[in-house]
Amino acid sequence: MTPPTRILLREETLDPSFLPPKLPHREPELALLLKRYREALARGVPFHLLLTGGVGSGKTALARRLAADLERAGRLGEYPAQATYVNCWRRASDRTVMLDLLRSVGVSLPDRGYSLSEMLDVFEQGIRRTPAHHLVLLDEASALVKQGTKLVYLLSRSREVGLGSISLVLIAAEDLLPYLDAPSRSSFGVTHRLALAPYGRAALADILVSRAELALRGGSFDRDLLDQIARVAAPGGDARFALELLANAARAAEDAGAEALAAEHVRRAKGSILPTVTESQLETLSTNQLGVLLAIARSLKRRGTSVPSQKLRAAHAALLEELGGPTMSRTTFWRTLKELERDGLVSLDAGASGESSQVAMDELPASFLATLLEERLGRAGGRKA
Ligand SMILES: Nc1ncnc2c1ncn2[C@@H]1O[C@H](COP(=O)(O)OP(=O)(O)O)[C@@H](O)[C@H]1O
Ligand SMILES: [Mg+2]
Repeated sequence: MTPPTRILLREETLDPSFLPPKLPHREPELALLLKRYREALARGVPFHLLLTGGVGSGKTALARRLAADLERAGRLGEYPAQATYVNCWRRASDRTVMLDLLRSVGVSLPDRGYSLSEMLDVFEQGIRRTPAHHLVLLDEASALVKQGTKLVYLLSRSREVGLGSISLVLIAAEDLLPYLDAPSRSSFGVTHRLALAPYGRAALADILVSRAELALRGGSFDRDLLDQIARVAAPGGDARFALELLANAARAAEDAGAEALAAEHVRRAKGSILPTVTESQLETLSTNQLGVLLAIARSLKRRGTSVPSQKLRAAHAALLEELGGPTMSRTTFWRTLKELERDGLVSLDAGASGESSQVAMDELPASFLATLLEERLGRAGGRKA
C-alpha cells in the first residue's frame, strides 16, 4: 500500500495568527487606508482610526496588513512607520495595555507604583529612541473602552512626541463611539471610521481559494468544494469559520486516506464544529420529510456537493417504490423540501435560468445521515406492519 498523501502541506498558513499576503475583497479598504495614512504621516500628522465589523469580517487581518505595508513603505515624510499590536481582550485595563506598549519599546516597568501618565511619559521616552510614526493597534478594544479608558484619550492627543507621531487604531466588533468621551470622539470623525460588512458567499469562496492555494497541495481541492464551504459559512459572513471548516475538512480527508477533499469531508467538518442535527431532531420529522431527506443523503453519499432537484425527485420516487409507500405529488415534494430548508437541514440554490434548483445538505456526513434515516424509516415501517 502506498502511504497516504498529505493534503495540508502548510497547515500553519490556515492558523488565525497567520497574516496572508493578499486579502481578497478587502483590497479597496486596504488601498483607501494606505492612502490616508501615507498622506497624513508624510505631513507629520497622526491618523486615528476606528475599525469595526462582525466576527471574521477581517478586521484584525486588515489592520495588521495595513501596519505591515506601512512599515515596509520606508520613510513617510521624515520617519518610517513602526507598529505595535496589542490584543486587549484579556488586558481590559489601561495599565495592563500600557505595560504591553512599554514592553514593545523595550521598557519593562513593575506592575505598580506608576500612574498612567507617568507610564505614558516613559513610553514617549522609549519611542524617542527610535524616531518613527508609531501606529498603536488596540484590538478587541470593546471592554477597555466600555470601562471608561483614559488611554485612548491620552494616546490620541499625544500628537507630537518630539520625534514622530502616535496614531491609534481601535478595533472592535461594535461601534465604540457612544462609549468614548467627547474629546476622543472628535479624533474619530467620519473619515476616521471604517465598518466592514460581513463577507458574502462569493467573497468567502474567493478567500477560501486564496488560502487553499497557500495551505493545501495543488490538485487536492476544487472550486466546487470551496463553494460548498462558502455556502456553509455564508450565513455568518465569517471568514474565520470558513477557514476552520477548510482545515477540518482537509484533516478529515487526510484521516480517510483520500487523495483530495470531497463534499463528504466538508460535511464531516461541519458536523464536528457545529453539530446542528441530532438524532433527537430527526425524531421530530414527518415521514414525508424523512423520505426526502433520505433521498438527498443517498444522492450525496455517492458524490457531489449538491444534487439537481429533478434528479433528486427521480431518486425519491425510486426510494418510495423501494419502501412500498404511495407516490408523492410534485407540489408535496417541493413543499417538503421547503420545510427541510426552513428547518436548516437543507439548502436550496436556484439553478441557472431557474430551470432546476440545486439541493444541498451540509450538516453531517451523508453516509451517516443515510444510516440514521434508514434505521428510522425501517422502524416506522416495522410499526406499521
Ligand atoms: N479578505 C481576506 N482574505 C483572506 N483571508 C482573510 C480575509 N479576511 C479574513 N481572513 C482570514 O479570516 C480569519 C478571520 O479574520 P480576522 O481578521 O481575524 O477577523 P476579525 O478580526 O474581524 O474577527 C483570519 O484567519 C484571516 O486571516
Ligand atoms: Mg480580530
